[in-house]
Amino acid sequence: MMPRRRKQQSKDKVSLMSLRERTIAIIGQGYVGLPLAMAAVKAGWNVIGIENSPTKFAGISSGISPVEDVPSSDIQDAMSKGQYRISNSVSDVREASVVTICVPTPLDAQRSPDLSILEQAVLDIAPHLVSGTLVINESTSFPGTLRDFIYPRIMENRSGEDIKVHLAVAPERVNPGDVRWHQKNTPRLVGGLGEEATDLAVNFYSSVCDEVVRVSSPEVAETAKLLENTFRLVNIALVNQLTQLCADQDINVHEVIDAASTKPYGFMRFTPSVGVGGHCIPVDPMYLSWWAEKNGTRASIIDQSDAINVGMPIYVSRRVRDLVDGKSSAKRVLIMGVAYKPGVKDVRETPVTALRDDLISNGYEVGWIDPLVADWEGSSPVDLSWECDVAVIATAQPGLPVENISARGIPILDCTGVFKDLANVVRL
Ligand SMILES: NC(=O)c1ccc[n+]([C@@H]2O[C@H](COP(=O)([O-])OP(=O)(O)OC[C@H]3O[C@@H](n4cnc5c(N)ncnc54)[C@H](O)[C@@H]3O)[C@@H](O)[C@H]2O)c1
Repeated sequence: MMPRRRKQQSKDKVSLMSLRERTIAIIGQGYVGLPLAMAAVKAGWNVIGIENSPTKFAGISSGISPVEDVPSSDIQDAMSKGQYRISNSVSDVREASVVTICVPTPLDAQRSPDLSILEQAVLDIAPHLVSGTLVINESTSFPGTLRDFIYPRIMENRSGEDIKVHLAVAPERVNPGDVRWHQKNTPRLVGGLGEEATDLAVNFYSSVCDEVVRVSSPEVAETAKLLENTFRLVNIALVNQLTQLCADQDINVHEVIDAASTKPYGFMRFTPSVGVGGHCIPVDPMYLSWWAEKNGTRASIIDQSDAINVGMPIYVSRRVRDLVDGKSSAKRVLIMGVAYKPGVKDVRETPVTALRDDLISNGYEVGWIDPLVADWEGSSPVDLSWECDVAVIATAQPGLPVENISARGIPILDCTGVFKDLANVVRL
């Protein structure tokens, strides 16, 4: 942890810089870019948030936050102090000494890395970078992305010019919906292309975060990020497979996990679920798998874990159907919680989509509710009074009316483990 006096000194240092020196431009104002923007404002930086989605740009321009963890009042305060402005003009990077890239890095239809959005962002900023600018990639990608993908694209764009751009990687570790860990108190990994770039990046993050961890190369930082999320993918798959094995043999997997969790070392608790979702856990490990294949080998543990997690919604669908089959001809299922995790409205890659689709393909009518989600792939939530034969809690979203459903005597399959004490609830 950086002691309080050093933090104050670091903030004072920022305030002594020239306007350009203390201006940071952040490409992408989503789940990663906007919290970083607000953390940088708090550290004394002048921030330009560059966003190319007209809807997000319009919302933020009127002081409305699109991200649950960033209160709209923070944006409004920062705007009124003149420390934050939203822009849709990428040429504004000229005004900044630090440019961070926080854009999506999804998978394509073959589930291989799709760097087209990152590439576009790099090509957009390249012509406008002033010599001496520090460019940091925070977007998750495979090892070598900074050195072999971003750097050449910037330099090709500026060929023949006498310009020096410093480049570093600082993978984002934000955990949306987490009230304990945030930009400031989550240690930040930093690896630059060369010592000077690393020094500059370490200095920048030291002003924003309590702890910065310097690593020897961008590839170490890029690979560490993939290790962190692959660790989660593999352990989630392990417990999901164990859930199926135990259910087949009538062993209570929750009691098994509780029992194993009494071991004070060498064990970390993971719990059964519908699968994995969001922009990170189902996606990032596939970058590592693709990279292994590109290098002539296989990350077989990732591929197997991915297959187990992808199969989980189908398994859950069967468990839901087992609860009603033979008891009803109507076959209506209520899904409770559709976001990929509690506390967020984000439905990207949610495994609940595959659960819904499998139920529908088995002839079930599906309704859904989620207090944080107003629209899910073009469909609207049902009323609480919607008649159903069975309910499934897919995501333990705060405010779910589980007690109401339980009191109506409707059988409930709880995939979250949170509602075990209510009547009519069976755990996954
Ligand atoms: N969401 C998370 O929990 C999380 C956590 C850690 C790391 N990451 C990584 O961070 C990166 C960003 O993820 P995110 O969740 O913030 O995505 P996001 O979709 O919430 O935000 C990205 C924003 O970038 C904007 N954008 C795209 N191209 C642009 C361009 N050329 N110019 C300006 N704006 C542009 C998009 O409109 C969008 O608003 C990804 O690589 C992701 O894997 C995400």
